Amino acid sequence: MTRAAAPGKIILLGEHAVVYGRPAIAVPVRQLQAVAHVEHLRDGRPNDVLIESRATGLGGWLSEMSADEPLARITGLALDRLGGLNGRSITVRVESEIPIASGLGSSAAVSVAVARAVSSYIGRPFDPAVVSELAFEVEKLHHGTPSGIDNTVIAFDRPVYFVKGSAPETLTVGATFDFLIADSGQASSTAVAVAHVRHRWEADRAALERVFDAIGGLVDRARTVFQGGRTKELGPLMDENQAHLEWLGVSSPDLDRLIRAARAAGAYGAKLSGGGMGGHMIAAVPEGGATPIVEAVQAAGAAHVLTTRVEP
Ligand code: PMV
Repeated sequence: MTRAAAPGKIILLGEHAVVYGRPAIAVPVRQLQAVAHVEHLRDGRPNDVLIESRATGLGGWLSEMSADEPLARITGLALDRLGGLNGRSITVRVESEIPIASGLGSSAAVSVAVARAVSSYIGRPFDPAVVSELAFEVEKLHHGTPSGIDNTVIAFDRPVYFVKGSAPETLTVGATFDFLIADSGQASSTAVAVAHVRHRWEADRAALERVFDAIGGLVDRARTVFQGGRTKELGPLMDENQAHLEWLGVSSPDLDRLIRAARAAGAYGAKLSGGGMGGHMIAAVPEGGATPIVEAVQAAGAAHVLTTRVEP
């Protein structure tokens, strides 16, 4: 049996503007994982794959699934790239502890885990750039114009400074950065949020481009702060980014409440992360000092809270 895992992710700054060519910074979240297992299937169908997902309850033969089914798409893409199964039959089994529809990259993580597991099983493990490229094809099924940041940060499993269409720049941080991640409990649809911003952009391109430029400027400053290890300085940049996201209309009362609670309890800064309109918020917290902030966001109604660390 071959097993491969992939992490979740958070976007530190730059979501939405990244769809319009501005930079964004994202980091992997290794406490949350999607896992794929690949196994030889004795007495199975030659050249076919029995797919099973515990996360979604999906199960069946690849040959009988719609090509729009994300798990079928990534399995097919990986096998095409590897030249097929040469008569073999396999099972691909997927499990994921990354919450779905919440801005933590669950769909890209499942694709990355499957591409890694299938290619390792065949004996020719894909490099991260290939894994990312294949997972990007699947991200297009979820919303029409993905920037590619999710598949990139998850496939490279490193902090990235990302610009759509360019090779990703992996970042080395200058100090330990601790973050809190809290679930608003409200499901979010990236497709809906991206479409909302698209309508706003179509109605007033000049205004939206100015906001995207401002967000891009914050991301560039954050890159310097991140690399320089100036932990406290990241917070105000996140706060400013949140103000722009609120103006774009992708925050929500639930997210706003958790963000206010985190700031009041001593976070350096806080914002939504991912598509927004629900899903998760993040806060930059003092190293080793997350506890009072975790308690504050729990008291403010967070459904689930975890902390993650980015280390040099
Ligand atoms: O909701 P998520 O985690 O898939 O993040 C979406 C980030 C956006 O910038 C809103 C969309 C994108 O494709 O980059």
